[in-house]
Parts: sequence; structure tokens; C-alpha cells
Amino acid sequence: TSDFLIAPSILSADFARLGEEVDNVLASGADIVHFDVMDNHFVPNLTIGPMVCEALRKHGVTAPIDVHLMVNPVDRLIGDFAEAGATYITFHPEASDHIDRSLQLVRDSGCKSGLVFNPATPLSYLDYVMDKVDMILLMSVNPGFGGQSFIPSTLDKLRQARQRIEASGRDIRLEVDGGVKVDNIAEIARAGADTFVAGSAVFGARQQHDANGYDSVMAEF
Ligand code: DX5
Ligand code: ZN
Repeated sequence: TSDFLIAPSILSADFARLGEEVDNVLASGADIVHFDVMDNHFVPNLTIGPMVCEALRKHGVTAPIDVHLMVNPVDRLIGDFAEAGATYITFHPEASDHIDRSLQLVRDSGCKSGLVFNPATPLSYLDYVMDKVDMILLMSVNPGFGGQSFIPSTLDKLRQARQRIEASGRDIRLEVDGGVKVDNIAEIARAGADTFVAGSAVFGARQQHDANGYDSVMAEF
């Protein structure tokens, strides 16, 4: 895959009118819905679970939903999110005692699987599971909150992850999450990312940009 995908993170959306927010951002050109699940344990924040994913599907969202699990443990939630309509389910290796098993659980549940790497988490977790991942997600901030600044060392890590993907010959997406803005996305793409999460840069832009939607900010991306 070499096409670029934009994945707005609904963490920065207006949760009181989430369906409409997601409809608008997809109508403005977003490719994937990034769905941040936080448990106040693995990360110091608490967000949304499978019921909200299911509600978006019932609302009529047909775009891929990219579920980013920031929870520990992960296994118990995999089946619930698969039933709720997740497309991708990604998790942090530190949050699973049996990474290979959790990746297999994701695929067995019919979803695409991925591992997420915190800024200081080594890519060596991939060594024996490249055949079990459909996505590699590099965090470019410490997880837990939107609106943080992109950590520059992620660029070198993206290049290393891209090399691993090329060497494997596999069809694996390389996603980046945290501090992605209109003015740094080109550099991030040059480092090898093909899937870009953007939360505050998209949903925070509504007031400044459009009265009715996300057309101008999505056009900039
Ligand atoms: C952070 C989340 C991100 C967050 C990104 O833990 O995983 O998806 O929403 O927000 P921005 O784009 O504002 O850095
Ligand atoms: Zn995320």
C-alpha cells in the first residue's frame, strides 16, 4: 500500500453530537475513523468503549473504524469491539502478556490487527510477529491526551519501521498518531508513514474554519 489515509481522531470531536461530527469529517474527505479507547489504568484518561463504536455503526457510519486500545488487559475487549463493528484493532505490547495470542485473537475475530509503539517502546516487539500485523502504529506523543506536540525522534523511528515493512515484503500500514498538523504532515510522510491520525488539528479547527463542516481543514491535509 502506498496510498495515504487520513484518520481523524474523535477524541477531539464534540462527544455530545458524535454521529454528526463523524458524518461531517467523512463527508469532508477523511478516510478512516480513529477511535481512542482509554481505561484510566494504562493511560491517565478515560474515554469510550464498544457501545460507542456500535452506536456509530447503527448511526450509519460505513468507513473503516480504527480502534486504538490504550487499555490493560486487552484480550477481553477484542471480541466486544469486533462485534461492535471495529475494522482495525491495535494495542500496545506492554498491555498484553501474550502478544502473539492477542494479535491472533484480533484476526480470528475478523478484524485487522496492529501493534502500537509508545515513543520509548522498541520496534523489536515486531521481530517475531510481522506475519501477524496489518498495521504498525507509532505514537509521536505519549498516549492519553490530544493536543500534544509531535516528538521529533519519531521521524527516525518511522524510517526504521518503513525499512522493516519493506524487508518483510508484506502489506502493512504504517500509521502515526500524535501532534500531526498540516505543517508537519509532509515531513512525516517522507519518513515513511502512510496513515495519519489527526485529532485536534481536524476537530479543533471547526470554529476557525467552517461554519458547517470540515471542508477547509481536510482540504489542507
Ligand atoms: C493520544 C491519542 C491520539 C490523539 C491525537 O493518546 O492516541 O489519537 O487523539 O490527538 P492530536 O492529533 O491532537 O495529537
Ligand atoms: Zn490514538
